[in-house]
Amino acid sequence: MGRLVVVSNRLADPRKPAAGGLAVALGESLQKSGGLWFGWSGNISEDGASGNDSNLHMRNSGKVTLATVDLNRSAYESYYEGYSNSVLWPVFHYRLDLANFNTSHLAGYRRVNQLFARKLKPLLRDDDTIWVHDYHLIPLAAELRALGCRQRIGFFLHIPLPPALILAAIPQHEWLMRSLFAYDLVGLQSEADVAHCMHYMTTEAQATLQDDQRLSAFGATVQVKAFPIGIDVQEFQRLGRSQDAVDTFESVRNEYSRRQLLLGIDRLDYSKGIPQRVRAFRELLERYPDNVHSATLLMIASPSRDAVNAYVDLRQELEGLCGAINGDFGDLDWIPVRYIHRTVARKRVPGLCRASRVGLVTPLRDGMNLVAKEYVVAQDPEDPGVLVLSRFAGAAEQLRDALLVNPYDAQGMAESIQTALHMPLAERQRRHSALLENIQRYDIHWWREAFLATLQSSATKASAA
Ligand code: G6P
Repeated sequence: MGRLVVVSNRLADPRKPAAGGLAVALGESLQKSGGLWFGWSGNISEDGASGNDSNLHMRNSGKVTLATVDLNRSAYESYYEGYSNSVLWPVFHYRLDLANFNTSHLAGYRRVNQLFARKLKPLLRDDDTIWVHDYHLIPLAAELRALGCRQRIGFFLHIPLPPALILAAIPQHEWLMRSLFAYDLVGLQSEADVAHCMHYMTTEAQATLQDDQRLSAFGATVQVKAFPIGIDVQEFQRLGRSQDAVDTFESVRNEYSRRQLLLGIDRLDYSKGIPQRVRAFRELLERYPDNVHSATLLMIASPSRDAVNAYVDLRQELEGLCGAINGDFGDLDWIPVRYIHRTVARKRVPGLCRASRVGLVTPLRDGMNLVAKEYVVAQDPEDPGVLVLSRFAGAAEQLRDALLVNPYDAQGMAESIQTALHMPLAERQRRHSALLENIQRYDIHWWREAFLATLQSSATKASAA
């Protein structure tokens, strides 16, 4: 394989300590091949230009070249806040009620994808393999092909792909889904997502199935396959052994020595089912009063996309729910819900997970959810906590030994939390070791290798032409 080129909206310096498992894993392949990572710089330039004149910044991190472009305010608003996060994010998470199909968003989305293609093209070599990430950049390969690029190009969607009739609510769904045929390989998180994609393509795009993974339409063939993303287990275990993690574990354990701790860590996003979790906790206190004074729900929700209306509404709803539960049930020496609207340092996460009796990962819809995997890895195998996982997270396809719940069902969820709190040690150990085995086998390195090997063996558009 020649050089790897990764393209994503956000990028991280893989060598910086704050880089997460994904950045580190991609960084390893980039490092090996002397590769290039291209994306948005995270800066919004105030030059008033249309987004076409953005500067290209290049710098090196080891053998990896990081190339970024700035976006101007209007491009940022229409491409990022607009089409990406007010159309694609809600619809792909099955929330048509929260979508805003303002046509000006689409123009900005196309413009930025064209800008990315124009800026990237001169940096490419003929034998590069290009790997595009996530919903911000769905039409990127089509834009690159229009400029004459014939390299292998793969795409991985980190979020769910909804059923055909939900996708079809996007006014430009045909254009959007057709653009996937410019890729050689489309990777999705789960088998459910693949089934939705196949169904959409055969019913809405009149594609024909070549075999169980290959679809043909518009004179092109694309392979579609599930590659459930994992975590860097060893890196996370290392983090768990660090002094910061141990200190966090000990201080949380001391603070809650008389309580059972239930933990949720999310971005503050409506897809994460955070209000539903608080309602289930309320139900738990009402139905099983032995938990009053004894269980504490710790919810860490990091700020996210707070200029988008749906996120502002969510924040208000959540503050109301937490305030009410604390007012109704709290006592001088016990606050039932601790809600923190801040980003918690990554080095604290393993200690927080290990100190919690129950991990609550209860999204209404999620592509995968890596917190579920991190929670399991952080546990003490001799005395592990219990993962309560939404059946609507992509991770539920793999993590069958979690307690699977329906986050819309507050009563059912309260019953499962009660079961988790009282689960005998032997059952906790059995479930934990089965979960851990799956997470170790399908880690981030497996994911990266499986995707790249499949992309490498896929027919290129160039050879097909
Ligand atoms: C999800 C998406 C990512 C995105 C992240 C944070 O995990 O799949 O592409 O980067 O959320 O969201 P943000 O809008 O801050 O990039």
